[in-house]
Formats: sequence, C-alpha cells, structure tokens
Amino acid sequence: MDKDGSSQARPPHVLVFPIPLQGHINSMIKLSELLALAAFRITFLNSDLNHERLVKLTDMATHFAKYPGFEFKTITDGLPLDHPRTGNWFMEKYVEVIEPEMKRNLREMLLSISPPVDCIIGDGFLGFVLEVARELGIPVICFRTSSPHGFWVYYSFPDIIRAGELPIKGSEDMDRLITSVPGMETYLRCRDLPSFCRAPDIEDPIIKLVVKETRRSTQANALILNTTEELDGPILSQIRTKCPNVYALGPINAQINTRLKAKHRELQDHFSNALWKEDESCISWLDQQPNRSVIYVSFGSITTMSRDKLVEVWYGLVNSKAKFLLVVRPNFMTGEDGEGDDDVVRELMEKTKDRGYTVH
Ligand SMILES: *[C@@H]1O[C@H](CO)[C@@H](O)[C@H](O)[C@H]1NC(C)=O
Ligand SMILES: *[C@@H]1O[C@H](CO)[C@@H](O)[C@H](O)[C@H]1NC(C)=O
Repeated sequence: MDKDGSSQARPPHVLVFPIPLQGHINSMIKLSELLALAAFRITFLNSDLNHERLVKLTDMATHFAKYPGFEFKTITDGLPLDHPRTGNWFMEKYVEVIEPEMKRNLREMLLSISPPVDCIIGDGFLGFVLEVARELGIPVICFRTSSPHGFWVYYSFPDIIRAGELPIKGSEDMDRLITSVPGMETYLRCRDLPSFCRAPDIEDPIIKLVVKETRRSTQANALILNTTEELDGPILSQIRTKCPNVYALGPINAQINTRLKAKHRELQDHFSNALWKEDESCISWLDQQPNRSVIYVSFGSITTMSRDKLVEVWYGLVNSKAKFLLVVRPNFMTGEDGEGDDDVVRELMEKTKDRGYTVH
C-alpha cells in the first residue's frame, strides 16, 4: 500500500471483515474507526444477522455516518437467520457451512463493489479471505484480535506436541513449564494454556482449526496486532520470523481517543456495538462501590457452562471476599437443567446479595 496516500486521487478503500462474533466485532470496528480518522474509506462487512441486531440495539450506524465514505455491508454467515446459534456454534459449523458460504459471498461482493477495494483487513481467523484476495489480486492484511502471546502459542502448538510436552496427562502438575515455545521457555506453564489446548485429545478438530488458521494468517501481506513494542517486543520479534510485516498498532482504544482529542471532538462519543440488549441496571450499584473494588466476571459471547462449574466459580468469588459483577448471558448454562438458568443464578446470588450483582 502507498504509505502516505498522497499520490492517490481518492482515499484508499479498505474492506474490514470480522468473524461474526461479538469480541471480534468489538476490536475490528475500533480498528475501522482508527482508519476512518486517518481518512481511509471503509467498508465494514458484517453478517446479516449481526448487522440487523446492531442497527436495532445500538447507535453504531449514526456514529459512523459522520465519517465520509464509511459504509456497512452484509453477507450471510451461511446459517438461516432463525438458527439459534447457541454455544460454540461458530466453531462447530465453520468448516462445513460458514467458511464455504462466506467465501463464495465475499468473492461475489468484491467483484461488484464500487469503488473497488484496495486492501482487505480480514479477521486473522478467517484464512479463506487470503485465498479470495490472492485470486482477485487484492493485498490482504490480517488483524488478529487476541494477544500476541496467545497467537504465538497457537502457532507453536504443533512444536509443543512434537516436543512431547502435550497433551497434559490427567493428574499432572499444572505448574509444569512448557519449554518448546520460542521466547516463552522460562514462564509458560500448563495452566496458562486455554482450556481447548489442555484437552486430553490433541486431535480435537477445534485445536486443529485454530492452529491451521493461525498459521495461515502469517501468509498475509502484513499482520496487525493490538499491542505495542514496549509491551510485547520479544514475542513480536518471534512472530516476525514467520511474517516480517507485523504492525503493533495498540492500544487501539487509546489511539482513537488521542486522535479524537486532537480534532477537538468530544471524547464522550462512545458508541455501543453490543449484539445483546445491554442491561444497565448495574450502573447505580457500581456507583455505590469504592473505586477498584469490584471483580468483573464475564465469559464472552459463546462460552457455555454447566451448573457445577458455575457453582465453583461462585465459590471462588465468595472466597475472594471481594465484590463482584457477574454476567450471565441467555443460553449460558448447559445440561438438562439449562432451562433453569435463572433459578440457579438467583439462588446463588441471593446468598451473596450484599457483595455481588448479576446482569443478563
Ligand atoms: C486492545 O487491547 C487492550 C488491552 O488488552 C484492550 O483493553 C482493548 O479493548 C483492545 N482494543 C481493541 C480495539 O481490540
Ligand atoms: C474514583 O475514580 C474517579 C475516576 O477516576 C475519581 O474521579 C474519584 O476521585 C475516585 N474516588 C476516590 C474516592 O478515589
């Protein structure tokens, strides 16, 4: 890409394409705002369903209307609109339905969009974007929304297995060091690995998919990570041995605020990009708590949990003696008593109502 853009008659047109999940939309919409502030023309590509929800529940469309050339476009995620999309639906349906459908639709859209797209910033997890971009001769940058450390561990997963350091056996010491990830030899412990890497079965299709997509994203023209050299320098150097053009653009939220301030705009132009209706009833409760006294507990948009595990988490919170704010999403609990989510949570919270608050 032309770095200063001065030789171009029109601003570069960038297509930003997140995975259709809340956490990825959060990060990629912020990156889009950062680029819009730098006068890029942005097309933000969302799934039909998520776009519909955002339009209904948030002020996002109005917020971005102030950036010239900022557009939302939609694509199907391959599932019918009324599919319940509960639990880990994305990973479970990815290979079979979501990837081929999105790939076909992305290609079609890129062929018809005007002005043509100069560069795609694809979610680092969506490897098929690379294939489509290559075929159409469009440069592609991957934005990996997770931390560089996480990224590097996923990348190194096959090496950890080759070194015989995984899988973790049943009764093992979770403090055991994993020494086969370059740059992390002295501090990465079994307990630091995400739960799916701790699975006894290393042939698990979800692990395979995460590793495959992580490896693939280093073949992009560049990789964007939400961090700084100061924070993650040593790991960024490791990642650069696989993908030389790594841009540490973070912290993205602070970058946006600095630029907005420089433009003498209000700092308070926060917009919501929540896919669920926000439960703001906790605000007055939080206002009554001392600064830095509340533990925030949330499990993201796809994790589900059994009743027993939730009770364990609750014991941990009780033993911490701290106040806590717990988010229990609809469809969060699994098992036959999944229907009784509310009862279980209400029962637990009743016992700690002086210290904890739940939002849904
Ligand atoms: C960037 O990383 C920081 C620190 O982890 C996090 O608080 C922030 O939400 C992230 N921002 C984006 C846009 O991903
Ligand atoms: C709590 O934090 C807010 C915001 O940073 C600050 O204005 C306020 O003075 C703090 N209150 C106390 C008691 O420290």
